[in-house]
Amino acid sequence: MLYKLLPIVEKEIINNKYFILTFSNYDMAGQCYPGQFFRLKNPQQNFPILPRPFSIHNVYENKVSFLIKKVGTATIQFSAMKVGQKIALLGPLGNGFTLHQNKKILIVSGGIGYAPFPFLVGKLNQMKNEIFFFHGGKTAEDIFSNDVIDFTEDGSIGEEGLVTDGIEQFLQKNQVDVVYACGPQMMLKKVTEICKQFNIDLQVSLETIMACGIGVCCGCTIRIIENGKMVYKKVCKDGTVFDGYKVVWNE
Ligand SMILES: Cc1cc2nc3c(=O)[nH]c(=O)nc-3n(C[C@H](O)[C@H](O)[C@H](O)COP(=O)(O)OP(=O)(O)OC[C@H]3O[C@@H](n4cnc5c(N)ncnc54)[C@H](O)[C@@H]3O)c2cc1C
Ligand code: FES
Repeated sequence: MLYKLLPIVEKEIINNKYFILTFSNYDMAGQCYPGQFFRLKNPQQNFPILPRPFSIHNVYENKVSFLIKKVGTATIQFSAMKVGQKIALLGPLGNGFTLHQNKKILIVSGGIGYAPFPFLVGKLNQMKNEIFFFHGGKTAEDIFSNDVIDFTEDGSIGEEGLVTDGIEQFLQKNQVDVVYACGPQMMLKKVTEICKQFNIDLQVSLETIMACGIGVCCGCTIRIIENGKMVYKKVCKDGTVFDGYKVVWNE
């Protein structure tokens, strides 16, 4: 784990809601693994006090990028920052996805749950997997790339409907070995139910609200079934990636 104060080297504004910040550091890029996250803070601002967690979006040429959705104080501050301004980064944190090779893989994301997947896809491609990628959002603004099969709830781009409807239909016709998913809890719960029907290995990356981000405060606990018993796990330290079948999903 590293703590670095680094200048933004690239800033890409995707639309009104989303932007990408990129940092360049040899050590940092070398330590990153798909599915891990960093905690970011603007050192010029006293509030919010706590750094915020963001998934590693991509890693290339010693650069590490983060796809960020503007939702509140910290993310609005980041969106106003310019290339050259410095951000404090702590990470990489969390366990990341278990990688496979020579498999048929389905990736499912919803909204900002898309963030960790470009880095994962790069690694899975090197390992000769066949990848199918389904992404869903509320509107066209929540869609990021043309490389995936997109769904929007309002039908403004891609197919109209929920991404979970799309994967259910897809799995009825196609055999898949492993599913990786990230997105809102309700989406992940539904993905788990669908994967169970087809008996497919499932890894889910969870995004709870985090305070310390390093396993100290217990603010990010979730319930997991382990050896037939229910136990509490910390998303920041034991996850963020879990076996979807072991997670006790909130009703
Ligand atoms: C492991 C992890 C990885 C993440 N990766 C990304 C990422 O790659 N890109 C990205 O844009 N966001 C990501 N998030 C969510 C991001 O951390 C929050 O959006 C951010 O903390 C909001 O900070 P803020 O100060 O702008 O908003 P706040 O003012 O703190 O919050 C604004 C609103 O967002 C809600 N909120 C805050 N955090 C979360 C959360 N984790 N889940 C759901 N609602 C939340 C708050 O309840 C509030 O309603 C991730 C979260 C986790 C835990
Ligand atoms: S956020 Fe403190 S233990 Fe996970």
